[in-house]
Order: sequence, then structure tokens, then C-alpha cells
Amino acid sequence: MERDTILILDFGGQYKQLIARRVRECQVYCEILPYTTALEELKSRDPKGIILTGGPSSVYDPASPTCDSALFSLGVPVLGICYGSQLMAHLLGGRVQPASVSEYGRTELTVDAADSALFTDVPESTVCWMSHTDRITALPDGFRATAHTADCPVAAMEDADRRLYATQFHPEVEHTPQGADMLRRFVRDVCGCRGDWHMASFVEEQIPVLRERVGKGRVLLALSGGVDSSVTAALLSRAVGKQLICVFVDHGLMRKNEGAQVRSIFGPEGGFDLNYVHVDAKDRFYAALQGVSEPEQKRRIIGEQFIRVFEETARSLGTVEYLAQGTIYPDVVESGAGSGGATIKSHHNVGGLPKDMGFRGIVEPLRMLFKDEVRALGTELGLPQGLLYRQPFPGPGLGVRIMGAITPDKVRIVQEADAIFQEELRHFGIDTGRGQFFAALTDMRSVGVMGDHRTYDCAVVLRAVLTSDFMTATAARLPYELLETAMNRIVNTVPGVNRVLYDLTSKPPATIELE
Ligand code: XMP
Repeated sequence: MERDTILILDFGGQYKQLIARRVRECQVYCEILPYTTALEELKSRDPKGIILTGGPSSVYDPASPTCDSALFSLGVPVLGICYGSQLMAHLLGGRVQPASVSEYGRTELTVDAADSALFTDVPESTVCWMSHTDRITALPDGFRATAHTADCPVAAMEDADRRLYATQFHPEVEHTPQGADMLRRFVRDVCGCRGDWHMASFVEEQIPVLRERVGKGRVLLALSGGVDSSVTAALLSRAVGKQLICVFVDHGLMRKNEGAQVRSIFGPEGGFDLNYVHVDAKDRFYAALQGVSEPEQKRRIIGEQFIRVFEETARSLGTVEYLAQGTIYPDVVESGAGSGGATIKSHHNVGGLPKDMGFRGIVEPLRMLFKDEVRALGTELGLPQGLLYRQPFPGPGLGVRIMGAITPDKVRIVQEADAIFQEELRHFGIDTGRGQFFAALTDMRSVGVMGDHRTYDCAVVLRAVLTSDFMTATAARLPYELLETAMNRIVNTVPGVNRVLYDLTSKPPATIELE
């Protein structure tokens, strides 16, 4: 059975990923394509519907992004949003002009056509999110206005016979409370998508595709133990079994027991059918890092060593045709690659993998999935929830959580302290999914007293920040009792620590990590 596909044509709008999310929430597969995609290419994907995104341009500016007007006569339903709605009006003979006032933000919306497929069950008076200066001032032939606001006579329009729909407002954002319903009506009722796209069907669909792609070749994957590479491993193991070789490089800067966990899941005792290579490179990393305290230099060394170890291991395996990567959709869209050719994830953990290792191709089976879809896929493939919902962990690992020079002893301290902190967070029922929670080690030593002895030991920092995008963050207001219990346990059980501090600083001015 062919899957239903919705295509989203990107005119530069900031909400394109949100549109894709909303469509996927209707259990319908969709892809974002650049507005320059040729009509033939669009047709060849046999879409059930096309959505035109917003964008910052004005349609009457000749340099603005546009599309082939034949798009509207393919017989495929089209929904234009914001700039997309203006483009539809403009290309089909209507008029778009600058308004005297921009409409921005939460706006009262009046539905004029209760019988519109988009507005089924939407009350006559509702709220929408607007962000525009231009507006449609004359409808194209065959269209009717279906909603208005105080400043926008055509807040929505349609030609139901040709199945062409447009909204000046943004149905994809949460500030349009009925917006998700409107998009659902378009995708399910107008386009007739069945809503049967879920992770089990993704697995079924991908396995033959991956088998065909890889043939009898071998596939190499750098497994970090993170969500994306682990799910990639699980999926590829289903598709090509032992042709998949997963290399896990333990750089000795993992969290406590992390290397052992990865081995227990993917190694010979785990349930996956694959070739697992566990490289214990601790000593080598510690040697290379000896005496180095400058943070950027430490990062560089960790990145370089990682590539070297990976390359050496790859070489020892003989000919391997493909390199697999856990690239996910936000990486693809952010890198501007859209669809098509392979992109090496530029901000890949630990410095990026070498591009010239002679692989025949790159396999990225998750490149169309959002993070929560990757997690759902991982669940479908039988990966443990603890792995799928774990906190993000930097590629250079504890290397960015130890200030000053790294030694095995400092690694041990930060691992033990972090394990205690994580236990207490769990014990106190803290939801760690909303940020990053960890212990770090300062390069400060200070005098303390333990029993009758003077000590001169290290200070551990507990860091707990709430963030949604990791660009800004605020310190979490953790229960005092939690901090006190964690502090007590750390100073009493981790040799070498005589102080525990809690970092209250937000980002900016600090960063999330402590290096
Ligand atoms: P900072 O400390 O810069 O961290 O506020 C922002 C986010 O990025 C993570 N981080 C990294 N992730 N490789 C990664 O994959 C790295 O080199 C790296 N450095 C920082 C950090 O944990 C936080 O989530």
C-alpha cells in the first residue's frame, strides 16, 4: 500500500517545521521541500496535498520566491498559509497590497463560511495568530472569502471546487487554538489522507528500502549511546543484521557505567543482530589530554583522538561500503539541505567524522524524523526507555565537565558525584526531561576538616538548568532537601571532595556546561 504524502513547499517561513509537526500529528507523512522544486519533481512524489508556507517577502516584488502556477491545476488540494495564501491569490489573478497597518499577534477571527471544510466545528468567533503587512484585497475568480478580522477582509479564502484553500493567519502555531483542527480537516478531509502513518509502518516501509540500498555491502556506524545513533543501530540491525558493524569508542569520559550499558544493549548479550565493536580507548585519551587545561584545546584533542581511533578501527575491518549516521530531520532542515543528497551532520558529536574514508555512500535512515518520532521508533524497535529519554550528553563527554587538566581520578570523582545526583533527582521525582542536570568538577581546592583531619580537596558543582532550546537556560529551583541530601552523600562517599556547590547562574551569561 502506498503511503499518503503531504508536501510542504518552503517559502522561507519560520514555522515550516511546525507545519510538518502538525501534519505528522495527524499520522500523515510529510516532507518539506524548497519552493524551487520543479513541478515534475513534485508530481513524481504523488502528493495527496501541498501546503505553501509563509515567508518574509512580498508577492508583488519580482525578486520574491514564487512557484509554477500550474501547481494549482494539478488536481491536488493546496493550502496556502500567510505568504503562501498571498502567492495563491497573486498567481490566480487576485490582488495583494500592503495594508496601512501590520497585523501581528493574537487576533480575533470571524468565520464567515461555517460550511467551509477547514472550519467544520470552529465557532464563528475565534482567535488566530497573525503576522503580516500585505493582505489580499481582491479574490481570484472562483474564490470566496471564508473568514475575516478587523483589519483583514480576507483572513481565509477558498475555491472548494478546485480544492484550493488559504489562510492569512498561521494555523500551525499554538496561539491559533483551533489551528491544529483546521490543518487536520485539510489533511484528512480535503486531501483524504488516511492517517495510518505510524512507527510500525515506518519500520515496515524502511526495511526493504534499506536492504535495497545496501545490497550485500557492509555498513559502519559510530555508536555513541545517544538516542539517534542507538535508534539508527536498532533499525539497521533489523534491516541488514550482521552486515551492520557498530563501533563504540569509550573515550573514558562517559558517565558512570555508560560504556557497560551500551555494551549490554548492543553487544553479544543484547538482543540485536549486529556486529558490535567496543573500543576501550581510555588510556589513549587520558595520555593525549595529560596536562592540558585550556577548554578549546581539550575539545580539539578529544575530537582528533576520536577520529583517529574510529579510522583505525574502520581500517582494521577491511572494506566497508557504507557509513551510517543518525542525522534527524531538524539537522537536515537546519543545514539547509532540504531533501536529496547526503549531508554530513556538521555538528556531529565529537568533531565530525572524516569525509574521505572512501565509503560508497552514507545511509541516514532517520533523516525524515523528528526527535519524538525517533523515540517512538526506538520504542517500536525494543530499545529501553531509559536510553530513549536520557538527557542530552555532550560528545566530548565529561571532558567539558572537568575544569582544568583531566586525570582519571577527576573522571572518577565527577562520575561518582553525578551518579549520586541522578539518583537523588529520581528519588525526588524531578522531571529531568526539561533541561540538563549533572555534576561537574571545578579546578578549585580548598581546606576542609573531616573527623580530626585537615583536608585539601576538590569542589564539585551541581548544575541543573531548565531549557527548551539549549540556547538560553535558567537554574532549576530544586528542593533544598534534595541538594542537601546529594551534598551529604557526595562529601561522605566520594573520596577527594570536601565541598559541593550549587550553580545558580543562567545562560547567558554562563553556558550550560562548566569547562
Ligand atoms: P553550552 O554549554 O554551550 O551547551 O551552553 C549547550 C548544549 O550543547 C551541549 N554541548 C555539546 N553537545 N557536542 C555535543 O554534542 C559538544 O561538543 C557539545 N558541547 C556542549 C551541552 O551539553 C548543552 O546541551
